[in-house]
Amino acid sequence: MLSNHLDTDFVRASFPTFAEPLAAKTAFFENAGGSYVAGAVLDKLMHFYRVNKVQPYGECEILKTAGTQMDAGRQTMADLLGVPVGNLTLGASTTQNFNTLAFACASLVSSGSEVIVTDQDHEANIGAWERLCQRQGATLKTWSINPETCELELDDFEKLLSPKTAVVCMTHSSNIVGTINPVEEVIKKARAVGSKVIIDGVSFAPHQWPDIPTLQPDAYAFSSYKTYATHLGVMYVADNLLKAIDPQCHYFNHGYPQKLLDSAGPDHAAIAALDGLGDYFTKSYAHHFDTDNLSLYQKTQKVSGLMHAHESELCSQLLEGINDLPIRIYGRNTVDGREANVALTSTKKTSAALSKALAEKDIAAGHGHFYALRLLQKAGVKDTDDGVLRISFSHYNNTDDVDRVISVLRSMH
Ligand SMILES: Cc1ncc(COP(=O)(O)O)c(C=O)c1O
Repeated sequence: MLSNHLDTDFVRASFPTFAEPLAAKTAFFENAGGSYVAGAVLDKLMHFYRVNKVQPYGECEILKTAGTQMDAGRQTMADLLGVPVGNLTLGASTTQNFNTLAFACASLVSSGSEVIVTDQDHEANIGAWERLCQRQGATLKTWSINPETCELELDDFEKLLSPKTAVVCMTHSSNIVGTINPVEEVIKKARAVGSKVIIDGVSFAPHQWPDIPTLQPDAYAFSSYKTYATHLGVMYVADNLLKAIDPQCHYFNHGYPQKLLDSAGPDHAAIAALDGLGDYFTKSYAHHFDTDNLSLYQKTQKVSGLMHAHESELCSQLLEGINDLPIRIYGRNTVDGREANVALTSTKKTSAALSKALAEKDIAAGHGHFYALRLLQKAGVKDTDDGVLRISFSHYNNTDDVDRVISVLRSMH
């Protein structure tokens, strides 16, 4: 099939989960917590565990082929992103990757210097830098949100930026607010004062595959367990930053750039299985487009465009379906410039009650602060444990899923 619309039947058939009774009856909107896994990824994962669950690399064929599969997983992730494999760190999670990166940035952040984080960030991209600043006697500055819109405004960033700024850490789109932040402008402005820029793409990447070659950040991190693959943190670090950091690996591994920030390698099978994500994007591309002379990075960007357009249609269906209810949406109430990740509170019901009512109809959408506690406090959420109800889409959701959410939310008001 060739189409400029995402074929959700094709997509769902690519995720074995949908053949299981539990997933078949569930409208799944917990995607920001972790997505379903593409069948092609599961195949590689199971193959590694069944055939090659050994210490990889070595002379014997069983060891050698384990290493080959892991190399393929790493290389595929690099090809999907269009970056050299040596610039990728694979860790257990993004929280771990940021923690390690912050430790490694000690020589960049001295007592006179400043680090900028934002109100919109997940704790993973604030706490690590806060601890670094405390250790180094440096100053942590926070780029605050506009409490009405919950958005970050560039004017406020410019006021914080100075020749003392060593590192700027910000989210590409928040796991609560969903607005796509102006990271291109931030990179340009921060670079002009000599600062490094580290982007948290965890909440962005599941909706739009990151375009690192165009963006050219100093570091960009996301979590592959939210992008239909295995539970890993994927972190790109540019050459200039890799050269400036203090290695966090064994001294005899200092010659391997992909190991500099890898203090203890994650699950081997999970790395090998990343190769399956390449298969998934390749098959999706072939299903939807007819030219074949593109790189995996280019194909993935095109497929991602279809996914994003599809999710935006669904998100628009939701926003329009509830716009007359006494509900506050955190961030924009249109899909313009936002990801399909919607956090809301009701003036009539607690977020826990909404989540429970949805669950009773087999709709998965959680509530709470989702580790963005500081953001909820700044946004004026009074009970941060009850927090917001979060409806987070993936490209395998369909209009029926959204109708079900709308129907429950309407019945509750
Ligand atoms: C925006 C954002 N950043 C960072 C993280 C942390 O990622 P991980 O769970 O891989 O540590 C999350 C996790 O949900 C997130 O949503």
